Formats: sequence, structure tokens, C-alpha cells
Amino acid sequence: MRTPIIAGNWKMFKTVPEAKTFIEEVKGKAEVDGVESVICAPFTNLPALVEAAKGTSIKIGAQNLHFEDNGAYTGEISGEMLKDLGVDYVIIGHSERRAYFAETDETVNKKMHAAFRHGLTPIVCVGEKLEEREAGQTKDVCKVQTEAAFKGLSAEQAAQAVIAYEPIWAIGTGKSSTAQDANEVISYIRELVKGLYGEDVASKVRIQYGGSVKPENVTEYMGQSDIDGALVGGASLQPASYIQLVQGAK
Ligand code: G3P
Repeated sequence: MRTPIIAGNWKMFKTVPEAKTFIEEVKGKAEVDGVESVICAPFTNLPALVEAAKGTSIKIGAQNLHFEDNGAYTGEISGEMLKDLGVDYVIIGHSERRAYFAETDETVNKKMHAAFRHGLTPIVCVGEKLEEREAGQTKDVCKVQTEAAFKGLSAEQAAQAVIAYEPIWAIGTGKSSTAQDANEVISYIRELVKGLYGEDVASKVRIQYGGSVKPENVTEYMGQSDIDGALVGGASLQPASYIQLVQGAK
């Protein structure tokens, strides 16, 4: 069966001392057998987090990477650089990057390939805007984004990827999708993966829900047939609530 994965997306929060303190506080508590626990932090925190998490089961992830391995790309970070630091995961195509940093389905796909070239596990985000939801286009949007993200990936790579379904209207708004609605879209995304790679890969790929997940609602999402965890923003920033999220995912 699929191992549930709780990933904190810290976005642009926390200094290095704050990041180190966080790991000290969650050590041993945000570590639960049968649940994968990942912190995706700003680039500046990554070396300190990798060091602080040594000897724990907590994995560290980045929130972006460039699709080229090196070159004249001022301000960018490559997959090779992340791997060299000891990072294991990378978020790709978060809706904030699509909205504010010109991320497209094409760059998302190139970044998926870059992640796999360097042994990083991608957490690729898909999800619809409020107006798309209201126009009944949720599944169409997820289809376009999912199929584009996986273009050219092998079945073996696809099976290792993590997909995060994050309806944009639910991010940071306190308005979460109901567990049933989220499960329906996530089941559909799994069907898409089945269409691309077959039943075996579809049964292995992990699909998270993201959007106003909190300790109070995580168990409900985890109780759904196709939801394999959560990608959590705000509620992952405080040690106590992150611990509850990981423990609630069991
Ligand atoms: O990537 C996580 C995210 O966008 C959801 O944020 O604050 O609604 O949990 P939040």
C-alpha cells in the first residue's frame, strides 16, 4: 500500500535559527511509523535543516528548482545543487509559482525531468482557480496540468512522483475542499495516471490534498480512499500543529 506523506510547505517563512529550533521541537514527535514526514523550506534553510534532521526520519525538500543543471541563470538553484545538500524532495509547479513567477505547464514538465535526473522526488502541484471551479472545469484543468507534468517520464519515474491536488481557492483561505470533493478529484487524477501508465503505476503514485489542511481536519482527508497525505502551508509552521498533522495522518 501507499505510504502517506505529510509535507510542510513553509513558503517564504523562517530564518535559519527558527528552522533549527523547529526540528529540535518536532524530533521524535513528528516521526510516526508508516507516515512520511517532509519539510519543504526556503533555500537558505536547507543545509541547516538537513543537518538538524540527521538521525531522524524527517526528510527535507526545496520549494523550487531550475530545469537546467547549470548555466547563466542568475538567482536560480539547480537539482544538482539541491541533491548535493542532501535534499530529497522538491515542490514543482505550486500555484503561487505559476501565478507570480511565470511557471507554465512546460517549465513544470522540464523541472520534473530535472528532479529525476538528480534523484529528487518531485511533489508536483495541480489545481483549479475559483472561477474554473465555478465553471465546472476542475477536472479539465487537472487533466491538462497532470498530463503536461508527466510528459516523457518513464513508468518507473511516474510511480515515484508525488502529486499534490491544491485547489487554489482553498489555499490560505481557511476554505478547505470537503474531504469527499477532494477525494473525487484525486480519484480522477489517479485515473489520469492510469490512462498514461496503467494500473500498477496508478496504484503506486501518491496523491496529496493541499489547501487549508489543519490538525482538526487532517484525519478526515486521510480517511478517504485515494488521499495519500497533505501538502500543508500555514499549519506546518508551528511545531505543535505540525506534530499533530503527522500523528493525525496515521
Ligand atoms: O502548498 C501548501 C499550500 O499552498 C496550502 O497552504 O496555508 O492553505 O495550508 P495552506
